Amino acid sequence: MSKVRKAIIPAAGLGTRFLPATKTVPKEMLTIVDAPIILYVVEEAIKAGIEDIVLIAGRGKHAIEDFFDMSYELEDKLEREGKSQLLARVTKARDAANIISIRQKHALGLGHAVHCGLPIVGKEPFAVLLGDEITMEANGEANVTSQLVKSFEETGTSTISIMKVAEKDVSKYGIAEVEEKSSGFFKVTSLVEKPKPTETTSRWALPGRYVFDNAIMDLLTNAKPSLNGEIQLTDSMKVLCQQKGLNAMTFSADRYDAGDKLGYLQANIELALKNPELSVELKNYILDLAKSLK
Ligand code: UTP
Repeated sequence: MSKVRKAIIPAAGLGTRFLPATKTVPKEMLTIVDAPIILYVVEEAIKAGIEDIVLIAGRGKHAIEDFFDMSYELEDKLEREGKSQLLARVTKARDAANIISIRQKHALGLGHAVHCGLPIVGKEPFAVLLGDEITMEANGEANVTSQLVKSFEETGTSTISIMKVAEKDVSKYGIAEVEEKSSGFFKVTSLVEKPKPTETTSRWALPGRYVFDNAIMDLLTNAKPSLNGEIQLTDSMKVLCQQKGLNAMTFSADRYDAGDKLGYLQANIELALKNPELSVELKNYILDLAKSLK
């Protein structure tokens, strides 16, 4: 069975939900505690055994490319002062995988962004991790991408993550219609992008982690724009599900939509509460604040 060695991280969207911050700063570079969102995503891919990571960056997003590049002056200074550990997370990521950047010249949609990764992915299966979504597994648990990779390598069938959302939220997501095969494991029967609650009875949303059979690249090559004039990944996934099958899995990891203001704030608070340097003082601050809010 084919091993999953490549991942595409789309990070070329316009980030309009986070304006004005994202006018000049890519949303994937906004900070969660002390690292940009994209570093958490790259770390998830590396932990899942991915060797080649393709960052899909857009115009004005060179900060993402620069972040994973060498910074000779800074690194030399930190080295001389014995402070190299301050950059350890970045150098570790940079050393653990080939991080390659490809430009999406126009933000034509997620399907188009994924297709931009074709020159690196070639004929291999690949993972997709949205560049503005963070998942954080409990200690010792396999992360979401690792679980999808394992499922693909065991079954040979594309596998995506799904999560239950409230009826009022289905219109914010790609939604999968599914049949349960075993606890937490499903066969996808259809997909619909950002439906009205009346257009589907399913509450299973796609939170942005996928592992695909390479056949999706051929489908994306021929894909046409649909909803909002964009090339939607879900349209090609729908055909993939009919032609080659598509599985879905639930997950127990915490997941944050860090490209959304509320999700971003929640990620900062919850990850800071897990950070040994900050947890005690932040917890006391939140408890005091909560009292004053009553
Ligand atoms: P989103 O729909 O959340 O990103 O896409 P967006 O379009 O930047 O967001 P808003 O709604 O305007 O605030 C999910 C991921 O896919 C990437 C985004 O950068 C984000 O990480 N994306 C989206 C692309 O790379 N290219 C696109 O054309 C669209």
